[in-house]
Amino acid sequence: MSTPVVSLRNVSVRYHGGFLRPHFDAVRNASFDIARGETLGLVGESGSGKSTLGRVCLGLARPSRGDVAFGGEAFGRLRARRGQLAVVLQFPEWALNPRLRCGRSIEEPLVVMGVATEERRRRVAAMLEAVGLEAAVAQRLPSQLSGGQRQRIAIARALVTEPRFIVFDEPVSALDVSVQAQVLNLIRDLQGQHGFGALFISHDLAATRYLSHRIAVMKEGEIVEIGPRERFYAEPDHEYSRTLLSAAL
Ligand SMILES: Nc1ncnc2c1ncn2[C@@H]1O[C@H](COP(=O)(O)OP(=O)(O)OP(=O)(O)O)[C@@H](O)[C@H]1O
Ligand SMILES: [Mg+2]
Repeated sequence: MSTPVVSLRNVSVRYHGGFLRPHFDAVRNASFDIARGETLGLVGESGSGKSTLGRVCLGLARPSRGDVAFGGEAFGRLRARRGQLAVVLQFPEWALNPRLRCGRSIEEPLVVMGVATEERRRRVAAMLEAVGLEAAVAQRLPSQLSGGQRQRIAIARALVTEPRFIVFDEPVSALDVSVQAQVLNLIRDLQGQHGFGALFISHDLAATRYLSHRIAVMKEGEIVEIGPRERFYAEPDHEYSRTLLSAAL
């Protein structure tokens, strides 16, 4: 098998501080690999540690134990992975500066990477087209778009540097149901074209099923089950997975 885009081995994350809870392990002993072009779906109840695990995969949270490798290399040098990792969050507003025109928001990561002006313009135009928006949208402010269009801009911004790995943390939960389907389709198409590996965090088991090749289930900081999608939906191993599935029906 080729080198995974992200690899976690026995990772724990401990948060410090707080009066009642001086320290607390939000993630305990998590291990998995994500391959190029693969999506790992991550489900589990609120507070089980999903977003924390996503942050670890991006190098934004430091494990208190265990190892994280990106493209076979330990996370050390931030510069080296600039543009290679990206995140799409529940609210596109968190990623978009309200005062910047959307085209500029998409362009910004390329400016940071020192990409030349001509090439930036070309890539922004290509991304707008890839996410199904008209070129004229580049001139608008985020407030002048619908929620679904804003999330498309956030996805374009995440993808413009051609990252090898993307964390989607509840990317469609804030959207209208009909728009959710469009954005899920878009993510799937873009993955087919670009081949990025992805961690897809969601409460929505149907959306997770649609996008994921494998599913991991978290409960109280631990991955209690991880395996191929079909097996998870047909015959989950863990009692807790069965509870989640029956709750979703
Ligand atoms: N910076 C932090 N400091 C201390 N505790 C934190 C911090 N971030 C998260 N936590 C705690 O860690 C646990 C896991 O949080 P996390 O956000 O990873 O859960 P989650 O599974 O993403 O939940 P949700 O589905 O609600 O988004 C929670 O109990 C949360 O309160
Ligand atoms: Mg979360």
